[in-house]
Amino acid sequence: MATRPANADVQLVTPRPEDAERVAAWIADANEGYWVAPQTRLPITPSDVRGWEKRGHEPHVLVHDDDPVGYGELNVLNGPAGRYWLGHILVNPTLRGQGFGRLLVERLLRRAFVERDASRVNLVVFTENAPAIATYHVCGFRQDGFETHTFPVYRRTERLLRMMIRRNDYLLERSAPT
Ligand SMILES: CC(C)(COP(=O)(O)OP(=O)(O)OC[C@H]1O[C@@H](n2cnc3c(N)ncnc32)[C@H](O)[C@@H]1OP(=O)(O)O)[C@@H](O)C(=O)NCCC(=O)NCCS
Repeated sequence: MATRPANADVQLVTPRPEDAERVAAWIADANEGYWVAPQTRLPITPSDVRGWEKRGHEPHVLVHDDDPVGYGELNVLNGPAGRYWLGHILVNPTLRGQGFGRLLVERLLRRAFVERDASRVNLVVFTENAPAIATYHVCGFRQDGFETHTFPVYRRTERLLRMMIRRNDYLLERSAPT
């Protein structure tokens, strides 16, 4: 079995324009396209991915051994209150199950709580997306109710699980002896 990458082996960087091609290709199938970007018509193109960068949205690529392995955004929900949300979390499908998703979310949380002084970080996830829910849970997110969202592209309305991690819980968990 391959050794799991350590925190020190990865970096969170700003995407280069050419990374959009790669990120778009990581969407493994239509189901996943819906889970990752339910506001975007399929197939998700590099230009769609570039369009995810907008005011209040901070896109990141996780790099391992100089190779991009994951993508995710830290986005402002309420600036004055220090509330953020994570969006478009995605790992290269050939590298899943090796710990990169966890490292990606951990790095985004560090950016939020340590560098941006966030008070809390939220996200929403489809209730059937077990790998994503498990990943958020191991990173300290807890269930925080449900939100109903309408996705005009799909003509669907869905009840999504909201997950949240507060600053105090983040700091407490990371300072606990292991
Ligand atoms: C969600 C996603 C980013 C996780 O990435 P990953 O690299 O496979 O995750 P990891 O290997 O770091 O696993 C993180 C945890 O989730 C658990 N997990 C991963 N895949 C799982 C699965 N299929 N079923 C149950 N648990 C799973 C792992 O056991 C791990 O916990 P551990 O560290 O205690 O062992 C990845 O599956 C993905 O890109 N999915 C498609 C896009 C998507 O749905 N994004 C979420 C949108 S909200």
